[in-house]
Amino acid sequence: MKKILSLFLLLTSFLPLLGQNSYSILPKPVRLEAKPGVFILGAKPIIAVASTDPALRRMAESLAGQIGLVSGRDTKVFAGNFRVKDGINFVVSKDIKLGEEGYFLEVSPKRIVITAENPKGFFYGLQTLKQLMPAAIFGSSKADNVTWTVPCCYIEDQPRYAYRGLMLDVARHYYPVSFIKKYIDLLALHKMNTFHWHLTDDQGWRIEIKKYPKLTEVGSKRKETMLGHYNDHKYDAKPYGGFYTQEEIKEVIKYAQERFVTVVPEIEMPGHALAALAAYPQYGNNPDKIYQVATTWGVHENVFAPREETFRFLEDILTEVIDLFPSPYIHIGGDECPKIQWQESRFCQDLIKKEGLKDEHELQSYFIRRIDKFITAKGRKMIGWDEILEGGISPNATIMSWRGTQGGIDAVKQNHDAIMTPTQFCYLDHYQTDPKTQPIAIGGFLPLDKTYSYDPTPEGFNAQEAKHILGVQGNVWTEYMPTAEYVEYMTYPRGIALAEVGWTPKNLKNFDDFKQRLEVHKQRLDYLNVNYFGAPINNKFTYRWPLKK
Ligand code: ACM
Repeated sequence: MKKILSLFLLLTSFLPLLGQNSYSILPKPVRLEAKPGVFILGAKPIIAVASTDPALRRMAESLAGQIGLVSGRDTKVFAGNFRVKDGINFVVSKDIKLGEEGYFLEVSPKRIVITAENPKGFFYGLQTLKQLMPAAIFGSSKADNVTWTVPCCYIEDQPRYAYRGLMLDVARHYYPVSFIKKYIDLLALHKMNTFHWHLTDDQGWRIEIKKYPKLTEVGSKRKETMLGHYNDHKYDAKPYGGFYTQEEIKEVIKYAQERFVTVVPEIEMPGHALAALAAYPQYGNNPDKIYQVATTWGVHENVFAPREETFRFLEDILTEVIDLFPSPYIHIGGDECPKIQWQESRFCQDLIKKEGLKDEHELQSYFIRRIDKFITAKGRKMIGWDEILEGGISPNATIMSWRGTQGGIDAVKQNHDAIMTPTQFCYLDHYQTDPKTQPIAIGGFLPLDKTYSYDPTPEGFNAQEAKHILGVQGNVWTEYMPTAEYVEYMTYPRGIALAEVGWTPKNLKNFDDFKQRLEVHKQRLDYLNVNYFGAPINNKFTYRWPLKK
């Protein structure tokens, strides 16, 4: 009897967990009412789309294809303004008042209804619906022994911030287009909407520019790569290279658009310019110098010269970039630009005098203002890292605050927008657990709970100021991530914590609850073959570098 009682207690102690698990949605929705019962997927599932919008039709077809693939059931999409019994229904409503990314999702034993104002809302409603289904929905082949049910509920949802992003540095290491697409898929799965593509840096220029072919012929290749940690000063003696053609970039942008992800390109200036200068030394401060694409990490003092020819060169590049990328934002870098070459340059010192500038910081602002003017005239908005505040902020700049939060605060106090990416919370290149147990990383320590704890809106902001905080982004700098698998290892699950920081209202966040949902969610990531930290497939990969001693 005692045994039976303890078995009963053991089982019932799991019940709340089971209840929780059936609604393990990441990021957590604004409002979720669990209801009794389940929706049972029929033998011939129907998806009914009450709209002629091709984007909705495409999403419905994609869901039908996936359900068909994993369940083996013939799933059909129909158009028409009705709520089909036993079906999954897409209903457009212009007055749901949940913003352009919001949606309602109602699951009852009779039917499923997603209601949204426009395609973005449906896309996010669908991400939620898939997370209510058995994890096998994320598979790539027919799954046996799955009970295809969806727990009943009512969900009302919309994001906290408009900008929810992840950055990927493809300059330090290059990743194939197939991986860039997977990176975008994972962003979208977690309702993030911006992929910041760090395309140029000292160690590699990775975007084809038709007018300046040497940028990729010369600038995309380096002689060798640092091996081990920076402080070891060892090199692998192996040439390294890679770049994306404009056709590949168009393919990535289209892929991202279908997932409601905006691709923000970053072209670094005036610093982090060594790969460009290796190709076109005439735009540096020492045109006769033989520049080489950097083989060491860190900050390099070879930067662009603020000459008219350089501005023409950069404007030509930006013209091609703007023609390629429909993003409202163009990121121009602006971080870590050493001023030593400008201090030693007769030309720069004369320019400082001629323009009535105080010093090299103001010269940097002069540089950025010119670029801002160009980008603004093209109808786009400029983003720069927080260093661009230093000599005075450019009129139309949005600040990406990375050296802590002060840059973001200062920008907002001057009526500018800010995107928050402070190192202490958002740098996913930092160690996530005891370094002794980990493959080599740049340093730092950023465990999951710390990332999760971040609140992007600085304390004490009034409503008007708070509006200037566009959102949050995780940064994945890849000096120590030579492979795509390694990128996933560092990005997830911390990227999911940031997705929840960007989406879920502050008062609903709870780390223990997040961890419980994450445990369930890991099954989905396993189906998607994601090498997140702690994933069963971690062991499949050998890292190029040994564990840190
Ligand atoms: C940065 O981490 N240098 C923006």
